[in-house]
Amino acid sequence: MNHAKRKNLMTSLSLLLLFSGSIPLQAQELKLDEFARQSRRITANFTAIIIRRCELEVESIGLFAATEVCKITAPQAYYEYSIKNNIILKLVSLNPRNVVTGHADAWEQAGLQKIQKMLKNGRQAKEIEIVELVPEPAETYYRYMSPMIATPFCLKCHGTEKDISQEAVSSIKLFYPNDKSIGYHLGDLMGAVSIKKVYNPLNEK
Ligand code: HEC
Repeated sequence: MNHAKRKNLMTSLSLLLLFSGSIPLQAQELKLDEFARQSRRITANFTAIIIRRCELEVESIGLFAATEVCKITAPQAYYEYSIKNNIILKLVSLNPRNVVTGHADAWEQAGLQKIQKMLKNGRQAKEIEIVELVPEPAETYYRYMSPMIATPFCLKCHGTEKDISQEAVSSIKLFYPNDKSIGYHLGDLMGAVSIKKVYNPLNEK
C-alpha cells in the first residue's frame, strides 16, 4: 500500500471510529437529560410526600412514636417509589441515622462532598444536582443526587440540644443506637435524595 492510500485508510478508519462513537454519545446525553428530568420530577414528589407523611405522624402520634414509625415508613416509601418508577431511590447521608438504608455508597459520598463545597461557594441548594452515567463491574447506572437542607421541622429530630425535642432524643436512643444524624443547624446539608437506574444500551436508541 502506498503512502497516500495508507493515509486515506487511516483517515477513513478514524472517521469511522469518530462517527460510530459520536452517535451513541449524543444519544447518551439525550437519555441523561431525560433521566435528569424524570429524577427531578420524582424527587419533588417524593420529598413533598415524605415530609407531609412525617408531619402528619408528628401531629397525630407525637415525636416519640413518629420517630419509631419512621423506621418502617421511610424505607417503605423508598421501596414504593423505586418499584413504581423502575429505579432505586433512597435518602442518604454522610452521617446516617439508619445505617442500613441511609448509608451513602462511594459515589454518593463523593457527591455529597461536592455538594458541600458548592454550598460553601455560595451556590443555592435548589440549583444543585448531580447527574452522571456511572459504570460498575456488573452494570452501568444513571445516577442522580439532589441535596436536602435542614428546615426548622427537621431540627426537631436532627438538631442540636437547643432545637431537638427530648421525646425524639429518647426515641432515637432506643431505636437508632448508632445514630449520627444529629446536631444540625438551620440551612445545613443533611443528606440527599439519591436515584439510581440501570442503563441498558440495547434499549437506548
Ligand atoms: C419525626 C422525626 C423526624 C423529622 C421531623 C425528620 N426526620 Fe429525618 N429521619 C428521621 C428518622 C427516624 C430517620 C431514619 C429513617 C429510617 O429508619 O430509614 C430519618 C432519616 C433521614 C434521612 C436519611 C438518611 C439517614 O440518616 O438514615 C435524611 C436525609 C433525613 N432524615 C433528612 C431529614 C430532613 C431534611 C428533615 C426535614 C425536612 C427530616 N429529616 C425530618 C426522623 C425525622
